[in-house]
Amino acid sequence: MACPFNHTAVELNPAVLPLEWLLGTWECDEPGEGCFPTIKPFRYTETLHFSHVGQPVINFMFNAFHAESKKPLHRECGFIRMQPATNRVAFIIAQNSGLVEIEEGELTAQQLTLQSRSLARISFAKKPHVQQICRVFQLRPDGKLEQTVSMATDSQPLTQHLQITYRRS
Ligand code: HEM
Repeated sequence: MACPFNHTAVELNPAVLPLEWLLGTWECDEPGEGCFPTIKPFRYTETLHFSHVGQPVINFMFNAFHAESKKPLHRECGFIRMQPATNRVAFIIAQNSGLVEIEEGELTAQQLTLQSRSLARISFAKKPHVQQICRVFQLRPDGKLEQTVSMATDSQPLTQHLQITYRRS
């Protein structure tokens, strides 16, 4: 019996056609670099999956691992929507830390620039709490995808947390 969730043959909805370049699986090229003024710098690997089922939405899953022990660490999943007839983009995101967020921003050429618009967390989320997130995805001329994430917390102003480059797998 055909898998009801296998929609690989379904055409991409025109509403998200400008994001077609994201679709598929991306593996990190070399370990990404994590930092923040309050933590020890670290290295991590990450796989990104972007897919669709024909709806005006892109589905995504990001799974990060410790670069040496390979243990699962940060995980995020969600949906991407575009405002019709504009370059406005919204990411609807759930993180395994107990944070949920909406990021909005713009698509210009093959770069997505996003800012958190709304953040909520479980009542017993670990401190410090994140207050703001800025994220950029950029498809480089060499075909590699780069992601940078900055955040502000209760105790720190907006500062870079993550920088990583992926290749299509
Ligand atoms: C630490 C948020 C993505 C790995 C932290 C801290 C926060 C945070 C608030 C604590 C900082 C402090 O103690 O002052 C986020 C957010 C993310 C994100 C909002 C996504 C938007 C990731 C990813 C990794 C990662 C992809 C990759 C493995 C770590 C590590 C630490 C850390 C290793 C330090 C140890 C720890 O507190 O667990 N992050 N993070 N984070 N983050 Fe992230």
